[in-house]
Amino acid sequence: MDALIRVLAQALDMVEIAYIGASTNHGKRIAVLCAAMGRCLGMGEDELSDLVSCALLHDNALTEFTLLQRGREEDSAYLGTHCKIGQRNVEKLPFKGNIAGFIRYHHERADGQGPFLLSEGSYPMGAELIAAADMIDANLHLQRITPQGLPALRQGIADDIHRRFTGRAGSALLAVLDKELLESLGDERIVETVNRFVPAWNMDMEDPALVPIAEFIAHIIDYKSSFTRMHTLQIANRAWIMAGHYGYDLTQQIQLYLAAALHDIGKLAVPSEVLEKPGKLNDGEFKIIQNHAVQTRALLSAEEGLGPITEWASNHHEKLDGSGYPLGKTAGDLDFNSRLMACIDIYQAVSEERPYHPRRNHAEAMVILNIMAEKGGIDPAIVQDMDEVMEPWSGKDVEGPNV
Ligand SMILES: [Fe+2]
Ligand SMILES: [Fe+2]
Ligand SMILES: [Fe+2]
Ligand SMILES: [Fe+2]
Repeated sequence: MDALIRVLAQALDMVEIAYIGASTNHGKRIAVLCAAMGRCLGMGEDELSDLVSCALLHDNALTEFTLLQRGREEDSAYLGTHCKIGQRNVEKLPFKGNIAGFIRYHHERADGQGPFLLSEGSYPMGAELIAAADMIDANLHLQRITPQGLPALRQGIADDIHRRFTGRAGSALLAVLDKELLESLGDERIVETVNRFVPAWNMDMEDPALVPIAEFIAHIIDYKSSFTRMHTLQIANRAWIMAGHYGYDLTQQIQLYLAAALHDIGKLAVPSEVLEKPGKLNDGEFKIIQNHAVQTRALLSAEEGLGPITEWASNHHEKLDGSGYPLGKTAGDLDFNSRLMACIDIYQAVSEERPYHPRRNHAEAMVILNIMAEKGGIDPAIVQDMDEVMEPWSGKDVEGPNV
């Protein structure tokens, strides 16, 4: 696992606030508690790394499941659905060991009262630990608990062992949850605490394992809105093909693919009511949507290992003539891959079905791109290349890379 998971986890923490009013930095706090409990239970570094990744991503299906279940929040299957989808989503990621059930069972309780009615001993330890941390943070918002409140919190945990918490998870939680750990979970300190607790991650830009991670991220972003179910993934796939056309080496091709997968990650922070509004947007709503590009830059620039990916992804709404957003950059500020990303984004957006326009074939999309190029907004040479390269997929979805 690597820096990408951290970026996504940060974005997911924004989704949680928007959807369920959960505590701020929820995923990060669960990850720290799991790392502390896992160490206390003698886990090795690989096991810890898997556990922490699952903890950061435990609510990855919130966007998808909220779309599926909107208005059914009281449904008894409600909790189980995001657990099931969440586990399915992470299954293709390159974990070091077996993470079966870690996310699927993160709302189970020792007494069998969870969504899948499993009791203590019948779900894996990873799920026990995530469930224990999730239970206390989702219910109590740990960042609000003062050291004076700690004895009551600890007593509550002890009383609920073999009810909400398994014996193993409850005891580990009591062993690690002291004043120092509690204080390090506050919103101002949580990022530094994550960096201290979480095993170090590196990113190897030639690692084909980045492809399933990028697909996973694209999937989560796309499911934020029913209007964009394939948007990110198709842009990533088109970016892969364009990189092939230009003869990029594998590192550059993966970088461009990642930039495409991440370009709209800031949308995770945009309220769904605005993204999903079927009618015309008012000025205020339009500004909120445009802000996703600012959020993309903020999320990506927090991660040093991403190199040029941050620029290529964050510039996708900038135009050569300065009429784009959010920074109003001009030709001199936009390198080739930033220009390419803008062209691919527009090509995909005008090709896919939206509430305000039908699906368009290649020729129809090219009419729009050519007009934009003539007006000086996007790069005419790239538009010409896309005309040639994208033609065979007219009206069809582009397949993903085969690595
Ligand atoms: Fe959850
Ligand atoms: Fe949660
Ligand atoms: Fe965008
Ligand atoms: Fe986009």
